[in-house]
Amino acid sequence: MTATYDPIAPIALAAIEHMNSDHADAVLAYARGLAGAEWAETALVTRLEASGIELQVTGNGQTTTVRIPFDPPLTHADQLQPTLVKLAQQARHQLAAVTFIASPDPQRDDRSSQQLLNLIATRRSFALKDIAPDPIDLNHVAFILEAANWAPSHGQTEPWRFAVYSGEARQTLSNAFGTAYRLLHPDQPAGSPSEASQRNRVWQAPVWIAIGMCPNPKRPEWEELIATGCAVQNLHLMATALGLAGKWTSGACAIHPHVAEIVGFAPHTRLLGFFYIGRPASSEWPRGQRRSLDGKVTWHGGHPLPN
Ligand SMILES: Cc1cc2nc3c(=O)[nH]c(=O)nc-3n(C[C@H](O)[C@H](O)[C@H](O)COP(=O)(O)O)c2cc1C
Repeated sequence: MTATYDPIAPIALAAIEHMNSDHADAVLAYARGLAGAEWAETALVTRLEASGIELQVTGNGQTTTVRIPFDPPLTHADQLQPTLVKLAQQARHQLAAVTFIASPDPQRDDRSSQQLLNLIATRRSFALKDIAPDPIDLNHVAFILEAANWAPSHGQTEPWRFAVYSGEARQTLSNAFGTAYRLLHPDQPAGSPSEASQRNRVWQAPVWIAIGMCPNPKRPEWEELIATGCAVQNLHLMATALGLAGKWTSGACAIHPHVAEIVGFAPHTRLLGFFYIGRPASSEWPRGQRRSLDGKVTWHGGHPLPN
């Protein structure tokens, strides 16, 4: 770390105190996921500089100092907070492999399979309140849709269709959700709190992607629905890889025929809801849980050996 003028110096002490008191989970994740100290039981930030972060790590009967470099080094204090958030996300991605691979895995030593399972297990559905409303880079959205487009489909029908709403274009969706609510609840007075909440949802995430399924008449509809589901899973995984948060929302308003008409997909295309995307509002990436495969898999002709 350098001894010359450091742009982080004016805020370093406050940031260290904030990290240690409010983001102890993230600091421990840095140690375990990024500094190779999987054994860490506690970790404290002891130094923050433009070139990196220093931690005092305790566990396994030892206390040691580790450093995580910022690559590239920071040039302005404003870069510190987003960098720490990004590092926390990277650390959690890294840790998910340790956390989730509890079952026998013949590919355990293979880096890419480990990383893929890591990413799959890290993908989470975020409530709207946990998404930051600030705009995101639409090039990232294009990249995410490229991943969606690589989904499988029987006979290469590629039935997935998307319509992307961002910025002021979300007003159209706001109006459509509000009208759908009124049509679904004709007994409710105009402008009820529930209707207002439907209208306001769109402003809570910067990008809303309408999900459509355009069925090929030569294929059963269930296959086309599944193919579209695969496309959305690809989309969600790529968003996760980019550190973006989102969720598929398929409630009554999100699939309402009025909303479908406003979105304007080609005839016969079925609206399956929306996927909203934004940055996570907090640096704490939520943890997922799955019940074990017991009872979900039967093995015939052999089974893997217990660990
Ligand atoms: C087809 C589909 C539709 C969904 N629709 C909704 C929805 O309308 N509202 C909601 O809160 N979550 C919805 N979800 C997200 C699930 O709630 C979420 O995937 C589940 O809770 C597991 O959490 P995870 O995605 O973080 O693993 C939907 C998921 C799928 C696959």
